[in-house]
Amino acid sequence: AVELSLRPRYLGEYIGQNQVKENLKIYIEAAKMRSEALDHVLLYGPPGLGKTTLANIIANELGVNLRTTSGPAIERPGDLAALLTNLQQGDVLFIDEIHRLHRTVEEVMYPAMEDFALDIMIGKGPSARSVRLDLPPFTLIGATTRAGLLSAPLRDRFGVVSRLEYYNIEELSFIVSRNAELLGIEILGDAAEEIALRARGTPRIANRLLKRVRDYAQVRGDGIITPEIAAESLKMLQVDPRGLDSIDHKMLHSMISSFRGGPVGLDTIAATIGEESQTIEDVYEPYLLQIGFLQRTPRGRVVTPAAYQHLGLPVPPQPQ
Ligand code: ADE
Repeated sequence: AVELSLRPRYLGEYIGQNQVKENLKIYIEAAKMRSEALDHVLLYGPPGLGKTTLANIIANELGVNLRTTSGPAIERPGDLAALLTNLQQGDVLFIDEIHRLHRTVEEVMYPAMEDFALDIMIGKGPSARSVRLDLPPFTLIGATTRAGLLSAPLRDRFGVVSRLEYYNIEELSFIVSRNAELLGIEILGDAAEEIALRARGTPRIANRLLKRVRDYAQVRGDGIITPEIAAESLKMLQVDPRGLDSIDHKMLHSMISSFRGGPVGLDTIAATIGEESQTIEDVYEPYLLQIGFLQRTPRGRVVTPAAYQHLGLPVPPQPQ
């Protein structure tokens, strides 16, 4: 409930993602002026950047109901039919992890998105026929960390496709300060920035760190989060000054010690450190690529000189 109450409810309260916000604002206003359902929206990007929050905001701004589900939760076409037939005109259906929709479900989705129609097969064998049911116009909002895994026909049916970006330090500091205020936590501006610096460009991480730092401030201090308290507690959490955690460190160190910094394949890295390839690709790697600590090459991942420097290791001679 705390997590939910921290979330901004309207576009005006939502910090960052300015391009996405500006576009959505216009499309939402236009849809409202025409009393139409908003076109289907695909939100993609790394986890924790606010895809679910934005879906909630879009529904609030439109003044419609929101139904939330996820790709793997819709097991059969009938499950999707049940969801779709319960929508009212203009409602938003939010499907998280939409890249994990079952193929059979996805096929029912196409006419639903395009024509607001549900094609239901009745019977089996030679006497089988399909019946078309009309649906109320609705807005599908799909969210995924992996736009590349979406099939082309599904992707093409979204009228609005928005990529969420990592937040900058200023935006994250603002979010930390705002959420501290909402939680009744006293925090100094420099301490908010200290948390922001280590949040990997991700509000979800910033908010998690804020709560852990608050615990520390209450037990070891007088409850006020000073930059010193923030730095001490973040060190205890094993979050380094660039926001790398123990898994990032394990991954970089093992690439360096076992594979001379690469190139090394994703699956090999995953097996070496005992993490899922998918988790590395979705969660760890995007940030390391973004800050220039990793590079992707056709032969695998490579640790960059910047990463060696950050880890306090001698930079190996670079191939010419
Ligand atoms: N809390 C989490 N993400 C946020 C955002 N983008 N704006 C404001 N508060 C947030």
